[in-house]
Amino acid sequence: MPKPSINGLVLRAMEAADLPQVLAIETASYFTPWPQASFLDAMASPQQRCQVLTQGEEVLAYMVVAHIIDEADLLNIAVAPQWRQQGLARFLIATHQQQLKQQSMARFFLEVNVENHAAKHLYEQLGFQLVGRRKGYYPSATGPQDALVMCYEIQP
Ligand SMILES: CC(C)(COP(=O)(O)OP(=O)(O)OC[C@H]1O[C@@H](n2cnc3c(N)ncnc32)[C@H](O)[C@@H]1OP(=O)(O)O)[C@@H](O)C(=O)NCCC(=O)NCCS
Repeated sequence: MPKPSINGLVLRAMEAADLPQVLAIETASYFTPWPQASFLDAMASPQQRCQVLTQGEEVLAYMVVAHIIDEADLLNIAVAPQWRQQGLARFLIATHQQQLKQQSMARFFLEVNVENHAAKHLYEQLGFQLVGRRKGYYPSATGPQDALVMCYEIQP
């Protein structure tokens, strides 16, 4: 089966050989980045899907999603800083939304830092709606910050 692609980029399963590039993006993206062990655990878990978007040997973006019964949970997504605002995160999530629908999944959840305006805009554009708030969920340089819980209801 052909792999989904956007302008010659390839979406495929994350491999151990991708981890140096994934960890570099992760460190550039988060105040508390996932360590390598978290990515290895995710890749080994039958309930988690780890994907990378690549151009040749270069990893441009990645996403980790947990699937539990009929619900999915976006655990991690990041785009390399030099590749942002070119539609890559939208492509990753929208492609996954289509796959969840084909698999008759019911809901797609995520948490987003209340201060992460770029990500909030992205999720709202993709049909995620606010369903909750977790106080002090994220550590930050200026103290704990709340997480917004968002949900995309998958129409059958
Ligand atoms: C959030 C992130 C994944 C977005 O990736 P991206 O590939 O740049 O996003 P896209 O180009 O697909 O943008 C899609 C939409 O997101 C929103 N968006 C993306 N970057 C934005 C920015 N800097 N400011 C405001 N809105 C932004 C816009 O609504 C945009 O749509 P538009 O271009 O039509 O206005 C990326 O900035 C990133 O990796 N950030 C660090 C890690 C992170 O915060 N992950 C999310 C954790 S919940």
